[in-house]
Amino acid sequence: MKTVHSNIKKAKKILDKNHCIAVPTETVYGLAGNAYSDISVKKIFKLKKRPMNNPLIVHYLDINKVKEDCHINNDFIKLYNKLSPGPITYILKLKKSSKISKFVTNKQNSLAVRFPKHTLFRKLLKKVNYPLAAPSANISTRLSSVKASDVAEEFGTKIKCILNGGRCKIGVESTIINLLGKPMILRLGGLDFLKIEKILKKKFFVKINSKKKISPGQFRLHYSPGIPLRMNAKKAKKDEAFILTNKRRDSFKNYYYLSKKNDLKQSAKNLYSLLRKIKKDGYKMIAVEKIKDIGIGKTINDRLSRASKFK
Ligand code: TXA
Ligand code: MG
Repeated sequence: MKTVHSNIKKAKKILDKNHCIAVPTETVYGLAGNAYSDISVKKIFKLKKRPMNNPLIVHYLDINKVKEDCHINNDFIKLYNKLSPGPITYILKLKKSSKISKFVTNKQNSLAVRFPKHTLFRKLLKKVNYPLAAPSANISTRLSSVKASDVAEEFGTKIKCILNGGRCKIGVESTIINLLGKPMILRLGGLDFLKIEKILKKKFFVKINSKKKISPGQFRLHYSPGIPLRMNAKKAKKDEAFILTNKRRDSFKNYYYLSKKNDLKQSAKNLYSLLRKIKKDGYKMIAVEKIKDIGIGKTINDRLSRASKFK
């Protein structure tokens, strides 16, 4: 049977049997399983080689479904109404009566919830009668997948179904906000946190790549292409791939463009694919030109900075 397709019925059948499948979202591809099933959730951790103490994001169709598993609050409702479905994940308090597998949350009393925008994923969520736990579809610490072929590269024949929803529009993971107490940004992502500040009328202090681990999964080495990478480079050495965001007058084989017109959204969308390509092209080192630290540029710098911890 074909692994890569966009047949929701077939995908549902596999999920109903407690297997995992890959799903497209507007941010990155996810490795999905029934969030109510211990068997499915354990399979996700095993496939991804993810430490069991790093909790998963659970994907829901809408707010009504979330109410079955989580306590909701005013900040959540305000943000949900304006920003979901979209690239934002909320940390909420888990209800005692919730059916979420204890392996999703590592037995904590909070849950990361997200409402994906991709139409294929939404169609799937309408068909199944459980929410879907889905971390990014990549082996732990490696680059996230933004195309069905990236997922196939990561997992080979180990997954039975990759729902093909084309290339992810945003290209970096969702922004995570903790709403348990005072709202706090835990991970920079595809949604500019200034939008959240506007809605909540609050300022956030966001320090990227701080030494303190603010979210269980925010390990310093993450999103790595598996070769050394340095940031804020003015020039590249001969044997380095040079990542650029602005068109240069000269042209060399080692130039790789995230964007030719300093477009940060386009750069974010191309980031993981370009890093994968550079590795495939055989480079052993990467230099990256300075990237503007505003809006989604902050997210790009966060990911590059973590990748630069690879030695
Ligand atoms: O865009 C995305 O968010 C993608 C797509 C597939 O939805 N998912 C994704 O999942 O990036 P993952 O597992 O790669 O990253 C989830 C992050 C991890 O850093 C994890 O530690 C954090 O969310 N997280 C999950 N549950 C949490 C919780 N209860 N409290 C704090 N952080 C949590
Ligand atoms: Mg991930």
